[in-house]
Amino acid sequence: MTFNSSSVPTSADRAPRRLIITGGAGFIGSNFVHYWCQKYPSDRVVVLDALTYAGNLNNLAALENHPSFRFVKGDICDRATVDALLRDESIDTIVHFAAESHVDRSILGPAAFVHTNVVGTFTLLEAFRQHWQSHGQPSYYRFHHISTDEVYGSLGPDDPGFSETTPYMPNSPYSASKAGSDHLVRAYHHTYGLPTLMTNCSNNYGPYHFPEKLIPLMCINILMGKPLPVYGDGQNIRDWLYVGDHCSAVDTVIHRGTPGETYNIGGNNEVKNIDLVHMLCDLMDELAPELPVRPARKLITFVKDRPGHDRRYAIDATKIRTELGWTPAETVAGGLRRTVEWYLANRDWWQPLLSEEYQAYYRQVYA
Ligand code: NAD
Ligand code: TYD
Repeated sequence: MTFNSSSVPTSADRAPRRLIITGGAGFIGSNFVHYWCQKYPSDRVVVLDALTYAGNLNNLAALENHPSFRFVKGDICDRATVDALLRDESIDTIVHFAAESHVDRSILGPAAFVHTNVVGTFTLLEAFRQHWQSHGQPSYYRFHHISTDEVYGSLGPDDPGFSETTPYMPNSPYSASKAGSDHLVRAYHHTYGLPTLMTNCSNNYGPYHFPEKLIPLMCINILMGKPLPVYGDGQNIRDWLYVGDHCSAVDTVIHRGTPGETYNIGGNNEVKNIDLVHMLCDLMDELAPELPVRPARKLITFVKDRPGHDRRYAIDATKIRTELGWTPAETVAGGLRRTVEWYLANRDWWQPLLSEEYQAYYRQVYA
């Protein structure tokens, strides 16, 4: 994998950090762990992940023998586990990706979202605050919270993109639970001076994306000749961010961001869902020699809309660009091609994820 890392320091420019990366076995977290271990090989990287349905140790298999990498299976809501890791590993930085992350699952069962996203974030913040205070409040400690643009709600067709000052208006149980966690992070900086950072990003895509999300779901269904379920009229808009660009943005914020601040991260790639599905179909027609149904567009099926489906998300990334010098490197055309190529080359990665549990979930959402 290659990443846009031109705007951030090299390993030689800085003292090593000792990090806990929560949710590091998930989609974005694992991409970030690979990015970080490659770029900062002297840093200690401890992944804390509960290995829910979305966590996958295969995402981290290449790091098994990396000398400064450690995987710990554990729940961010378990205070004793978090305390022990902070102490035993002399942690100075938490990068917090762990979450329940899928809107459709939050509609079916919101309780896990409140537990992990709100209580889990609170548990980490409180443990990290005490750890930071017990070490004399070092100014270089960082708690980096990964959040979403979905906390801002939905945009009309002519509204400007979400900025860091857009009022919160979360619409789904998922986004409401992320909003709750964001408010806790903000309060811990305001009240205790904890050196927090927060980033709210748009929809990510790329390698290791769990099959339930739009892009991998469409790629896999095309390969299997299954219907491509497009919700509602397919005119909903998302601002697609290649996961490698997200990793370089988080790196930039950890090294250059001001504690207490929020930075919005977007790909500058607004696309209607139906146009994105068309692009994926055309790429598959081009890149996959033996598709069961061709052209793949024949598989597109409009299905009942997601309840409360947000119409449009878009990010105004002016702040991170002008204050920290970060811009995304990937276009949606280039990023989708790389992603389709990855799913074609890594069937052994995604095939086992289509488990009986996953099929049961699928039948519920697409009933
Ligand atoms: P994901 O669902 O692929 O991975 C989540 C990871 O967290 C999994 O490895 C899971 O095992 C772990 N986890 C869940 N509950 C846990 C718990 N209680 N304790 C420890 N680990 C637990 O998610 P993702 O798509 O990689 O998203 C990562 C972060 O980025 C999330 O905070 C999400 O809200 C945010 N985000 C994602 C997107 C996106 O497009 N995927 C966009 C904006 C923000
Ligand atoms: P998703 O990948 O679930 O991300 P999010 O809901 O966080 O934006 O969905 C992206 C868009 O694709 C969203 O507008 C819902 C739509 N969608 C479909 O049309 N069909 C599907 O099967 C899925 C999973 C999503």
